[in-house]
Amino acid sequence: MTLKGREVVLGVTGGIAAYKAAEVVSRLRKQGANVHVIMTKSAMEFVQPLTFETLSNNPVVTDTFDRRAPWEVEHISLAQRAEVFVIAPATANMLAKMACGIADDMLSTTLLATKAPVLVAPAMNTGMWTADATQHNMEVLRSRGVQVVGPGAGFLACGDVGSGRMSEPQEIVAAVENILNPKLDMAGLKVMVTAGATRERLDPVRYMTNDSSGKMGFAIAEAAKNRGAQVTVVAGATTAKEPDGVSIVRIESTRDLLAAVTARAPEMDVIIQAAAPADYRFSVQHDQKMKKQSGAAIVLELVENPDVAAAVGQMKKPGQTLVGFAAETENLMENAARKLDKKNLDMIVANDVSRPGAGFNVDTNIATLLTRKGSVECPLQQKAELAQRILDQVLELRK
Ligand code: CTP
Repeated sequence: MTLKGREVVLGVTGGIAAYKAAEVVSRLRKQGANVHVIMTKSAMEFVQPLTFETLSNNPVVTDTFDRRAPWEVEHISLAQRAEVFVIAPATANMLAKMACGIADDMLSTTLLATKAPVLVAPAMNTGMWTADATQHNMEVLRSRGVQVVGPGAGFLACGDVGSGRMSEPQEIVAAVENILNPKLDMAGLKVMVTAGATRERLDPVRYMTNDSSGKMGFAIAEAAKNRGAQVTVVAGATTAKEPDGVSIVRIESTRDLLAAVTARAPEMDVIIQAAAPADYRFSVQHDQKMKKQSGAAIVLELVENPDVAAAVGQMKKPGQTLVGFAAETENLMENAARKLDKKNLDMIVANDVSRPGAGFNVDTNIATLLTRKGSVECPLQQKAELAQRILDQVLELRK
């Protein structure tokens, strides 16, 4: 009984997969959860409320204006009572309403009012799922912290084969368990993550930098914190949303990064370097704004910066786990393997940044996690998911 006494609100929307939501209720109940079902009007075209009422042993909430059902005016209390709010199946229409904050029926109204974590299990035809509008809505929802399970690929009711199939009830229940009983397998560990781009000043108003947004590093920091670790982030310039509940140290240049990281490294159990430090800096940093040279060319000299990861590798203490990234545009695995050795890392996350959906400034990534024992392929996935896979491997290495 992993969910004993936990309050789960399940919204069922109108898709053929609505019948599978019945099994979700039944599995949640078997784990001890108290389940409240809200159905949209179109969901009721597919499954009778009585099915859910019987399985949940609670009244099913259907429409705000049904005067026979006194509990329905209390939907706000349901929104407050929910410890997790699940939408399964979530139609394209429901996802679009959520993305826009539309509240025009019982389910969308309750959902808009809730502060509980929200989990959606999309289910629709492949064309609808891959439509730009739906994908944009998913991005909006994800950026607000809505969690997503599936959809999987397979044979769809419309006869198509492709993605859009609702996740299986056991996967949905597993996702609920993850939210309500997060695994604290990093409790007691001190983790330092570097993130973002460094800036190398030329003068007070100009600098050299790169495209790193900090998304990957912040995703790792957030995931490690959620798994119970005590997390410090050393961050350069970032555009991604800062994670809550971690301590953030801001730096500007690669040399600042070196100082901040090496000062803290000895006390860390795990160090993950996702920052993109500038490899070079200007040999001269001007105190005053540089002036135009009346038509003459300016030659700027660059000198090499210290390699932070290599410095951390040199001072590595027994029991520490060091992870680096390799951003490459060619010869990915050879270059990554070389960096793993040269920087004395335990694992390197090899990224071909030239592939669509990978690298700087996007929400997804494609990577190979390379250790001395072997490698794990991570196909195109959200950076938040890749963060979890990286941490799984870190713990594997520490066994
Ligand atoms: N890194 C670092 N200090 C630097 C450059 C990189 O600590 N001055 C770290 C990055 O945070 C990353 C890893 O080293 O974890 C690899 O970075 P990458 O830019 O891929 O490699 P470089 O060492 O810069 O090598 P190259 O320029 O040859 O690709």
